Amino acid sequence: MGEIRMKTCLTAMLVVLAFCFGTAGAQELIRMDTYAFDSTRRPAAVFDHDIHNEAAELDDCAVCHHVWENGTLVEDESSEDSPCSECHGVNPTQENEMALANAFHTKCRSCHIDKGAGPILCGQCHRKMQGGE
Ligand code: HEC
Ligand code: HEC
Ligand code: HEC
Ligand code: HEC
Repeated sequence: MGEIRMKTCLTAMLVVLAFCFGTAGAQELIRMDTYAFDSTRRPAAVFDHDIHNEAAELDDCAVCHHVWENGTLVEDESSEDSPCSECHGVNPTQENEMALANAFHTKCRSCHIDKGAGPILCGQCHRKMQGGE
């Protein structure tokens, strides 16, 4: 009697654990960091860096992490150690006309449009944290 109860109890615990970890895993999409924005109006965009770049076959880091000098793109140099916000301020300034949100949208969406692959609608990138998949 006691043994059966023990087994039932253990089974129940495993079910609960599987449930917890199962759903936690499903919700854990890898997202953008939004620390540069003072406040956010949308859930952070879904972006799983390495998986994304492998699927999209992007070997050249400078496609996104570019370097500019005097208004010209510098070939074969990458700024992968700098966040985009280091050069693209949240608010546009004279030195850098393209503000941060615009820089992201232009970079991300334009390639998806060009390639005919990848999300282009707001809610496809800014997915809700729960049940938004
Ligand atoms: C499709 C665009 C894209 C490509 C291609 C890309 N990255 Fe990134 N990477 C990003 C974005 C967006 C961030 C987040 C930047 C931010 O928060 O300002 C980032 C962040 C990083 C970071 C910051 C640390 C981190 O993990 O948050 C490193 C390091 C990095 N990338 C390295 C690379 C390297 C090395 C390559 C080439 C092998 C590469 N990236 C290619 C878009 C890209
Ligand atoms: C070292 C500084 C620097 C970093 C880091 C940087 N940019 Fe830029 N970016 C510039 C400059 C300078 C320009 C050209 C002037 C302008 O239009 O603001 C530019 C232009 C752009 C443009 C318009 C031209 C184009 O390539 O389509 C986009 C979009 C853009 N950046 C997105 C990004 C994104 C996304 C990141 C991070 C992954 C990033 N930038 C990181 C400096 C930088
Ligand atoms: C130079 C091209 C390019 C750039 C830049 C780019 N993407 Fe993509 N992205 C793609 C391609 C191609 C696919 C489809 C890949 C596949 O076949 O699954 C894709 C797919 C995606 C997907 C759906 C698959 C997934 O990983 O969940 C998301 C989300 C996404 N991109 C977000 C972003 C964000 C956010 C940025 C900007 C930080 C970005 N992408 C920049 C080319 C690009
Ligand atoms: C291809 C992916 C993608 C699409 C499509 C997209 N965004 Fe974004 N958006 C981003 C990324 C990446 C950032 C920068 C970090 C973040 O908030 O995730 C951003 C930032 C923002 C921000 C600033 C941060 C905040 O939450 O206030 C707003 C507002 C925004 N997007 C609204 C929109 C709207 C509205 C649409 C549709 C018209 C849209 N986005 C479509 C990727 C995308």
